[in-house]
Amino acid sequence: MNNNITIAVDGFSSTGKSTVAKLIAKKYNFIYVDTGAMYRAVTLFAKQNNFVGKGFLEETKIISSLKDISLSFKFNEKLGFAEMYLNNVNVEKEIRTLEISQLVSKVAAISEVRKKLVSEQQEMGKKGGVIMDGRDIGTVVFPNADLKLFMTASAEKRAKRRYKELIDRGDKISYEDILLNVKERDRIDSTRDDSPLIKADDAIEFDNSNMGIEEQFKEICTLIDNKLKEI
Ligand code: DC
Repeated sequence: MNNNITIAVDGFSSTGKSTVAKLIAKKYNFIYVDTGAMYRAVTLFAKQNNFVGKGFLEETKIISSLKDISLSFKFNEKLGFAEMYLNNVNVEKEIRTLEISQLVSKVAAISEVRKKLVSEQQEMGKKGGVIMDGRDIGTVVFPNADLKLFMTASAEKRAKRRYKELIDRGDKISYEDILLNVKERDRIDSTRDDSPLIKADDAIEFDNSNMGIEEQFKEICTLIDNKLKEI
């Protein structure tokens, strides 16, 4: 059996892409790459340097500082997944705050940022045996992926999931702010000029508004098993 296939998981924010991708990676021994974490880490760097904040975005400064940004993933045995490092510092917690979520879509719309990250993602996945989640994996990063999944769910369901995650880890936020953020990111991610979030023609759509993680996981495993038999 050849496990060197490439799986692209795209879709809206908080559709459970990373939860399901991590489970798949574990079962099939694939490398899992959370590309959203990379855009979040660039945004964190820009925020730390005051290039982005509420109401402002210094695009030229972000672009010229890209050479100073080194991104890497390091596997955390205890957690069972890879964590995001920005210039060799673990930023896994800082990149998940609501503040970064509110800034990231604007940074991710900058073409030069996308160019750098897409080429790093292609490098990470070039040997196959990879499941990568994001917004443009099946359309831009790996247009020839062996299997493409596209996840959707209602904005309200997604905001509820995200709210629970952030409350569980101790953040003080309101559900209304999360819902606003989810809708605003959908808007920016789907309408930007460079690589907008769209479903690839050959992607299989999963609306998981009313679908549990186990059911979804089972269906995706069947798709993968069938794919592996074909190859
Ligand atoms: O998956 P996420 O919510 O952590 O992603 C954060 C943001 O990064 C998202 O709002 C859009 C952007 N993103 C992107 O433009 N392309 C990707 N491949 C992944 C994420």
